[in-house]
Amino acid sequence: MASDLNRPVGNIVILTGAGISAESGIDTFRNGGGLWEKHRVEDVATPQAFRRDPDLVQRFYDMRRSAIADKQPNAAHHALAKLDREWHGERRDLLIVTQNVDDLHERAGAKRVLHMHGEALSALCSSCGSRHPWRDDLQHGPACPSCGEQRLRPDVVWFGEMPYGMDRIEAALRKADLFVSIGTSGAVYPAAGFVAQAAQAGVPTLELNLERSEGSDWFDESRLGAASRIVPEWVEELLGG
Ligand code: OAD
Repeated sequence: MASDLNRPVGNIVILTGAGISAESGIDTFRNGGGLWEKHRVEDVATPQAFRRDPDLVQRFYDMRRSAIADKQPNAAHHALAKLDREWHGERRDLLIVTQNVDDLHERAGAKRVLHMHGEALSALCSSCGSRHPWRDDLQHGPACPSCGEQRLRPDVVWFGEMPYGMDRIEAALRKADLFVSIGTSGAVYPAAGFVAQAAQAGVPTLELNLERSEGSDWFDESRLGAASRIVPEWVEELLGG
């Protein structure tokens, strides 16, 4: 069902992926030279891999944690943070659902951010479930500061695990008046299915991506270009209109 992108917008759900952080210097997963070309998912991003070779998995996330430390938010993160600051009022809710484990949305100042695939700068105890802000390497990290039972693991969602915040995301999608997807290939579910869910409910859908993605056919409109250019343009359009 085609929906009207020009009708007045109220509640917005924005899904972001690795493409929004690419211009900040953080590797994407599936572009040329992406992370999954250099590492096998089965070796570093599943619970089975962690059981088999915890040090290898820890080293992979230690590398990713240290890789984001010196990176800065780009114009796309800043534009979404501005939208988050200014988009308030009756039926003007907003939720930024990110698949990214970096903290660039927060460092740009966005508050309404949900990390559905977890956060690189957080550590999780699989014994007591406590979470701990974490900036150092975990490979030789201590036992859980809360229960002392287990070595901490990265607080990220691995393949085969349930993404975080699904109830909140589903609720936001149900009351959305606009769904926007930014910088994601549409290859990983359940995030890849949000556009179909929105479209089937008659919610207008907009894609902002460097190139057409696997999900492009579902969107009412796809705008192609670098996130640092097309996201600020879209935000200004929305706030100015
Ligand atoms: P991908 O690497 O699959 O896709 C990145 C998307 O961003 C591609 O469609 C690119 O065309 C686009 N892109 C690249 N540079 C861009 C730019 N400057 N501006 C706009 N778009 C750009 O990354 P994700 O879709 O985020 O999950 O991957 C989804 C999930 O797959 C990740 O969260 C991760 C991965 O496996 C887990 O680890 C559980």
